[in-house]
Amino acid sequence: MTAEPIPATATGRDPILLQLSQRPVPYPPQVQENLRAEAREIIDRYPQSRSALLPLLHLVQSVEGYVSGTGIAFCAEQLGLTDAEVTAVATFYSMYRRTPTGDYHVGVCTNTLCAVMGGDEILAALARHLEIAPGETTADATITLEHLECNAACDYAPVVMVNWEFFDNQTPESARALADALRSGREVTGTRSGAPLCSFRDTARILAGFPDRRPDANEGAPGDPTLAGLRVATEPSTPAAPQRDSDDEQGER
Ligand code: FES
Repeated sequence: MTAEPIPATATGRDPILLQLSQRPVPYPPQVQENLRAEAREIIDRYPQSRSALLPLLHLVQSVEGYVSGTGIAFCAEQLGLTDAEVTAVATFYSMYRRTPTGDYHVGVCTNTLCAVMGGDEILAALARHLEIAPGETTADATITLEHLECNAACDYAPVVMVNWEFFDNQTPESARALADALRSGREVTGTRSGAPLCSFRDTARILAGFPDRRPDANEGAPGDPTLAGLRVATEPSTPAAPQRDSDDEQGER
């Protein structure tokens, strides 16, 4: 039986309507069959099947561009978990999207250091430029804009990530140019990558554990600011300045 909302006139207040999620629609048979085979391949890498949940969530995200109810039901079925257990994990990690995502997920770090260095300004500039709010996708489905928490890339703040590839030392101008390049279909390569970006769905597939076949995708070396701390730590320490004896100091007074 479906609960009827209490008429506003009876309470003098606006009715509160429950938003119930849709019952998951199974994947088309061919998609389901391929996914089952790939899920098996992933599950077999782990001594306990439930350990494969995170890559499986990336796998279903690679199909629809987000983790839908169908994806959750699929993961639960493959791993012998309940939908609630899978949902608890999928909603805990922010890399799993809960709404459809554009070809490029553009994340602007607005955590402390990036914010101080201009991250908030970049996010606002991109929102204005793309005419969407953070969390939304452009009408042409190319870009989903989002704010990100710290990506451990503070040495190159402020950073923007596109499909989890770093774009370092950004400004509002460079971020707008980046968004324009993505929307126009031009080839774009991250600051630390040797290969042009792939789509959000292809990235999800790589994160599920399938090989990244882009030539030079795994090339790249840490930059100077990243290595600065290591350099200081491994440098021979400079001898400490001789301490003056406090008695001597008193005697000099
Ligand atoms: S604060 Fe932005 S990467 Fe750390």
